[in-house]
Amino acid sequence: MSTDKTARIYIDTKRVISEISPLLFSGFAEHLGRCIYEGIYDPASPQADEQGLRKDVLAALRELNFRSMRYPGGNFVSGYRWEDGIGPKDQRPRRRELAWQSLESNQFGTDEFMRFCREIGAEAMLAVNLGAGSIQDAANLVEYCNAPPGSQYADLRAENGQKEPYGVKYWCLGNEMDGLWQIGHLDAAGYAVKAREAAKMMKLHDDSIELVLCGSSSSKMPSYPDWDRIGLEECWELVQYHSMHYYADNLEKDTPSYLGLSAALEDYVDTVAAVLRYVKAKTRSRHDVYLSWDEWNVWYKAREEADRRGDWKEAPHLLEEVYNLEDALVVAQWLNVFLRKSNVVKIACIAQIVNVIAPMLTSADDLLKQTIYYPLLMFSQMASGNSLDLLVESPRYETKKFGDMPLLDVSSAHDAGAGANTIFIVNRSLTERMPLEIHWQDVKPKRVTSAQQLTGSDPKAHNSWDNPKQITAQAIYAPRIIDGVAELSLPPLSFTALGVEL
Ligand code: AHR
Repeated sequence: MSTDKTARIYIDTKRVISEISPLLFSGFAEHLGRCIYEGIYDPASPQADEQGLRKDVLAALRELNFRSMRYPGGNFVSGYRWEDGIGPKDQRPRRRELAWQSLESNQFGTDEFMRFCREIGAEAMLAVNLGAGSIQDAANLVEYCNAPPGSQYADLRAENGQKEPYGVKYWCLGNEMDGLWQIGHLDAAGYAVKAREAAKMMKLHDDSIELVLCGSSSSKMPSYPDWDRIGLEECWELVQYHSMHYYADNLEKDTPSYLGLSAALEDYVDTVAAVLRYVKAKTRSRHDVYLSWDEWNVWYKAREEADRRGDWKEAPHLLEEVYNLEDALVVAQWLNVFLRKSNVVKIACIAQIVNVIAPMLTSADDLLKQTIYYPLLMFSQMASGNSLDLLVESPRYETKKFGDMPLLDVSSAHDAGAGANTIFIVNRSLTERMPLEIHWQDVKPKRVTSAQQLTGSDPKAHNSWDNPKQITAQAIYAPRIIDGVAELSLPPLSFTALGVEL
């Protein structure tokens, strides 16, 4: 092992991994707890606009610049009757919602969601119910959203105020159908056939839609990765994306291992990508399927049984995870992985966007930005163009879970059109500052235009209503670049994003 304490990053803008899909910066909103009601939609709040949408939440979501939004679930979708959520609000049924044992008022449904997407400039990504729902229900929803007026469901949409088709492009074929907890759970072969038939009907309505097949609901499932192979073999030609879900935890209270999590995330992508290659070869196909990591985040503190039951209340407080500094460093690494694997991961939706395992929490009239808000913000604002394959020389450390790991976790984006290069760096050390040199090999960079950092001395530090700014991204002194080399010193437990003009 090298005893050199200095880390070095070598950048060559010709070493391109792939174009970065803007959809990597997407979100997920489910009818769960206070995500929709009291989060997005809260007519009783002084923050509500004339449509009942929370202005403060809209502003934060616009700042996060989510490119698409997955909806309405999650586990919720597998019991959802989408027709409950359209038409005059006073005629919409109140129902017992089984997945989270809550009461669903249906005051927010497909049309409200489409308006919400328009407000924040995100594309809709709708999930259809392949649990208790039928393939006919799924096809009817595509007709409602995408068919021109002149048939039953398209005319219903027009009656509800939207004459022009919405043209929803992205559709998920159910949710976590491999899980026994899922309403209407199926085995792999059963799901594969139902998804294939739903896809067929949906595409007969609109051949331009792009479909996401349900992959394993985590790499810990006993049926993984067979589930993925079986579904893909059946549906390969019909789908454009295959989903991945994963929630990270530090239940073992082992922060050094927790901070090494990108090793497990990359391994997960590599395995599912290998399944994609296998199925493509087996089916002798010329078609490609990419990955949609459409649920990802840290989730373990609010995960007890009681956190998951709404006691048949409307908008109960469920899954209101509080995020600390180490969680934010894991989130930053996840985003690094998306860039490093951008040749195969094309969609990623953080689960979720407000109140429920989310970067922000609301009270009746206020909004709190959690620690994980900041890495999301830095990436979604700064990562564009191509992702670069870097050479990183880093001092290493030992973890119980992943063995020997580099102390730095790094990714980089090069936007040739904008003449900009961005570098995202996590220092996993709990105690040591890290001297760092960045060397540009094929270009002469002009200057560092922005330098932001999220750090703190306590990995468990978090923001609260009393102390909302304890952990935020701060502008730091921009290092000078001399002879194509920038030198800086990274504090322990830190995430740094540098924007460079080339
Ligand atoms: O995001 C919370 C839940 O996690 C979703 O409803 C489900 O898909 C996953 O298990």
